[in-house]
Amino acid sequence: MADSLEQIAKEVAVCTNCPLHTSRIKAVPGEGPPDAQIMLIGEGPGFHENQSGRPFVGAAGEFLSEILQSIGLSREEVFICNVVKCRPPGNRDPEPLEIEACRVYLDRQIALIEPNVIVTLGRYSMARWFPSARISRIHGTPRRIGRHLIVPMYHPAAALHQPSLRQEIMKDFGKLPQFLAKASQSWTESGDDATEPESEQPQQLSLF
Ligand code: URA
Ligand code: SF4
Repeated sequence: MADSLEQIAKEVAVCTNCPLHTSRIKAVPGEGPPDAQIMLIGEGPGFHENQSGRPFVGAAGEFLSEILQSIGLSREEVFICNVVKCRPPGNRDPEPLEIEACRVYLDRQIALIEPNVIVTLGRYSMARWFPSARISRIHGTPRRIGRHLIVPMYHPAAALHQPSLRQEIMKDFGKLPQFLAKASQSWTESGDDATEPESEQPQQLSLF
């Protein structure tokens, strides 16, 4: 049977592949259209997400919706998920083994959705593509890796209460519409073999 987002959600709901399942109320597979052009990947469910089974519904989520709105995007048109689908107790950081165990689900989501742009929110999703990078150095700088333009951003929870990071995250997201336009354009122009083109030099793009 062909894979689907619904199938992944079903498996995640009963998954016991890592210790996080023991404190799970609801798994949070992620949500959004199966053909979303943008995928946002956070860290892991928090208290409210664990209760509701939906990603980014707490304070960080509200801020994220606000940021998306500021660039003319609604939550409904992007796919939002996390590197781990079950809540780390007390909102602690996810452990490497947990991230590794949960990776299969994220891999399948990416393969199904094939988003042009993947926005990593915070260090843990960034590390998948940039294992040794510092977020303070590379945030807002896109890089084409394989079929996707990967854009590392600060985590909205971190940026919410820190004025300097808040400014940075707003600025970084402000560039997203252009990155998206560029990413889609390079596919139509050059098909599958676009490697590391203009995206290496994001500073050259003019801001809206
Ligand atoms: N923070 C995350 O990283 N993910 C959520 O779903 C909520 C808060
Ligand atoms: Fe399974 Fe991921 Fe939940 Fe761990 S976090 S139990 S790997 S779904």
